[in-house]
Amino acid sequence: MNIVIVGQGAIGLLCYHRLSQAIINQQGDNLVSLWPSTPTTLSDYLFSEMNDIAKSFPFTMADNQLIASADVIIFCVKSYQVTDALKAVDHLISDDAVIILTHNGLGTLEEISPRLKPSQCLLALLLTQGAKKVAPYHVKHTGMGHSDLGIIYGTLDSIKQKQLLEHLNKSLKQLSWQENIQQAQWKKLAINCVINPISALNDIENGEVNQKAYQRMTEDIISEVVAVATKEGVILSEVLLRQLIHNVAKSTNRNTSSMRADVRNKRRTEIEYINGYIHRLGEKHKLTTAMNTQLWLAVKALEDKY
Ligand code: PAF
Repeated sequence: MNIVIVGQGAIGLLCYHRLSQAIINQQGDNLVSLWPSTPTTLSDYLFSEMNDIAKSFPFTMADNQLIASADVIIFCVKSYQVTDALKAVDHLISDDAVIILTHNGLGTLEEISPRLKPSQCLLALLLTQGAKKVAPYHVKHTGMGHSDLGIIYGTLDSIKQKQLLEHLNKSLKQLSWQENIQQAQWKKLAINCVINPISALNDIENGEVNQKAYQRMTEDIISEVVAVATKEGVILSEVLLRQLIHNVAKSTNRNTSSMRADVRNKRRTEIEYINGYIHRLGEKHKLTTAMNTQLWLAVKALEDKY
């Protein structure tokens, strides 16, 4: 199974590192290559394990031929980059390639499904591992967690599915196959709808989102997410979501959310695919999403000030 990783952000390098270390054929050849979004002449990268020990490893860069023969292509890019990243390579990739997104797919599937061939299959890989870029080609693994994988478009034969799961479990660990990945996608979205804008707008760590001052806001966000999800055919429980989000904020209490980090570094945020996505679905289903809309606008206003 030939695998290409697209993107060299923190998650891209983490996936590339774990997979290239674990997946080799019987002759000892590496079956994993990296397709960087910006060309590089570097031949090595640095990887720091959670114990802070850093080591250098060689890159295998993908070229047109490698991406054309790839069985699996994993797009490790931000939600707003998914469509352009796919556009850049979709004329090269095979008709039966398995495409995996590390973004949860909500909001991006609508954009990319017209570009997919009926024989291609799209999967969402919901990672809860943490990684941080300490320099352009130096990534540090910051946290382990359980991950889910499931189909969001097309079909996958059971032999390929088993082989893929084995490979990913060997490299990324703690991965389970989800027959119904929609529930997991929406749970991840709900977590991000609460923790990301509250932490970014108030410049606070994840744990502080659990403070009483944000409780009412959190409840409003969740009830709007649940109402919109119901219209999309996904049934979620407000009580369980509140508990889940509380636990995520607690277990990552000293972390800076990705949106807070983006705002601090004056980078584009993923707000359009988080609270902005809830706002758009609210309009589609004629539901008011006052709190999500307010947060979407507030983060956009912050970005406009950069
Ligand atoms: O976006 C993030 O930072 C993460 O998904 C989460 C779970 C909010 C924790 O930091």
